Amino acid sequence: HSGLVIAVDGTSGSGKSSTCRGAASRLGLAYLDTGAMFRAMTWFMLEHGVDVHDADAVAARATEPAIVSGTDPLAPTIHVDGVDVGEAIRTQRVTDAVSPVSTVPAVRSRLLELQRAIIAEAVQGPGIVVEGRDIGSVVAPEAPVKLYLTADPAARAARRAAEQGEQDAAAVAATQASLLDRDRIDSGRATAPLTMAEGAVHIDTTPYTLEQVIDRVVALAEAVE
Ligand code: C5P
Repeated sequence: HSGLVIAVDGTSGSGKSSTCRGAASRLGLAYLDTGAMFRAMTWFMLEHGVDVHDADAVAARATEPAIVSGTDPLAPTIHVDGVDVGEAIRTQRVTDAVSPVSTVPAVRSRLLELQRAIIAEAVQGPGIVVEGRDIGSVVAPEAPVKLYLTADPAARAARRAAEQGEQDAAAVAATQASLLDRDRIDSGRATAPLTMAEGAVHIDTTPYTLEQVIDRVVALAEAVE
């Protein structure tokens, strides 16, 4: 017996998390937010005063933190060395530092090991929806369902700003610049860059509601089983 793996990649703010959580809960699958793991690693570096732009310094400490991810799609959790960092990893300070930290190969190999272990356990049961940037290409290339989600940058910034209760145009513009900056670094790095995996279904979510995108993912999953 082997559970289903659904690999979801895409640009920052394309609606991946909401889509994956909704689809996982409807399908009765576990959920893994690999972005939260990279954020947790970044939080650890900042917390310990490591210069996040010094790749050697980051690499030297990449195996240190104990990063534990909960996989309930309705209540995902993330702990670093026993500390609940669920909120701390969403601060702008972490968001600004996460893409540089994620370029470091030692960070990626450490988290890849943790991600593969979580997936291996989940496929003993019904399976798992895994979201990130390199899931279909590197983490789970054998996944029978792969998606690549994108959205118009202005739509992404507006959604993200609305989530954060921001209204004014300057805040939306700053959010858009931050999203595009991360996309640029994530797409341009040498190790496991953001890319549409072979066999992935591309969905531009701009014109769709969240429910419509979830319906599409559920339909693709049901077609496999
Ligand atoms: O998904 P989220 O926006 O929280 O991801 C934060 C950052 O973590 C991304 O911008 C990227 O730098 C990194 N990341 C990655 N590989 C993944 C998931 C996230 O490099 N599989």
